[in-house]
Amino acid sequence: MSDFTNGFWPWYVAAISVVSILACAVLLWLAGRVTVNTPAGQANDNTTGHVWDEDLREFNNPLPRWWMWLFVITVVFSLAYLVIFPGLGSYKGLLQWSTDREHSEDVGNLSKQVAPLYAEFAAQPVEALAKDSRALAIGERVFMNNCAQCHGSDARGSKSYPNLTNSNAGWLGERTAAHIVQTVTNGRTGMMPPMAAAVGGEQELSELANYVLSLSGSPYNDIKAFRGKAKFTACAACHGIDGKGNKALGAPNLTDDYWLHGWGEAAIVNMIKTGKTNAMPAQSPKLTPDQIHVVAAYVLSLSGSSFPVAVTTPGAAAAPAVTKP
Ligand code: HEC
Ligand code: HEC
Repeated sequence: MSDFTNGFWPWYVAAISVVSILACAVLLWLAGRVTVNTPAGQANDNTTGHVWDEDLREFNNPLPRWWMWLFVITVVFSLAYLVIFPGLGSYKGLLQWSTDREHSEDVGNLSKQVAPLYAEFAAQPVEALAKDSRALAIGERVFMNNCAQCHGSDARGSKSYPNLTNSNAGWLGERTAAHIVQTVTNGRTGMMPPMAAAVGGEQELSELANYVLSLSGSPYNDIKAFRGKAKFTACAACHGIDGKGNKALGAPNLTDDYWLHGWGEAAIVNMIKTGKTNAMPAQSPKLTPDQIHVVAAYVLSLSGSSFPVAVTTPGAAAAPAVTKP
């Protein structure tokens, strides 16, 4: 694909290239022919008549042959180059070479080289690979190159980017090979709608937020929480009557110590008011199914090697993205 934004620029660029090369050739030709005339009244001693420092004269010799030929070669080379490679506006060149094609060929060759290794891994279930140190070493590299920018190099995430070292209870979905493979392949979008209309004004929001805080054993205001409890019915459809979340919907557990979008009354009120659309882009355009298989094993291995992992009690979840004060 050409990067030119309209039909004029390719011609403009091509014209400048061709005219400059031809101008060089003409200059070369002229320089080979033109001789400097001896000024009238001076003896023709084969000098140009220029004199410096009283006796330093400039000889009127032609350019050295070898030097001329270098120039000729340069001109021929540039013309040949422009015929063979893309350089003249949007003309693609005889070889049809492009960086894009070279890159995909390189990627293709590399994939062929690593195919036997991946084939061995692909034949095993993700759960088995999660205990295979060779697979984990490769999975870690895939993770560092493709996931660490969002989930952190230690996979512990940050605000709005899930901590993948959490036990199952802290996950949005089930911490299983299938969920990880599905998420990495197709991406996912977590969506909580703005809910303030169903709750009320600032006071009701504050009361409900205190009730939510009470669910996780966080510090909270008793009276507010008591008054806010009834409003939680608006949330129960997704987060469950007990607030333990719904993994099928991706609604997080509100009773644990892990707060993906921030802990505290203000963060919860804000969540209810504005809602949240949190998306992870699909990685399938970048990664092959075999790579996803291996990186899933790495992620699965991050909080222990037995699956499914026991649900931790509040306060014991691995490093929350946002630690409580
Ligand atoms: C551009 C940022 C970004 C990249 C790159 C990214 N992720 Fe994510 N990932 C997210 C976000 C944001 C979420 C949470 C989506 C939501 O709220 O539903 C998420 C969710 C997940 C989940 C689900 C966690 C849960 O609690 O259910 C898994 C598993 C996951 N990512 C693994 C990976 C792996 C493995 C890679 C690399 C191959 C990767 N991610 C690359 C941003 C990213
Ligand atoms: C339609 C389903 C739905 C409803 C109704 C809903 N939520 Fe959510 N909520 C979600 C989802 C999904 C997420 C996670 C968004 C994401 O993927 O990042 C979420 C996230 C949250 C979080 C952030 C949790 C964290 O770990 O940081 C809080 C707090 C929260 N909801 C509170 C509430 C409250 C309070 C109500 C009731 C007023 C409510 N939600 C109603 C679906 C819902």
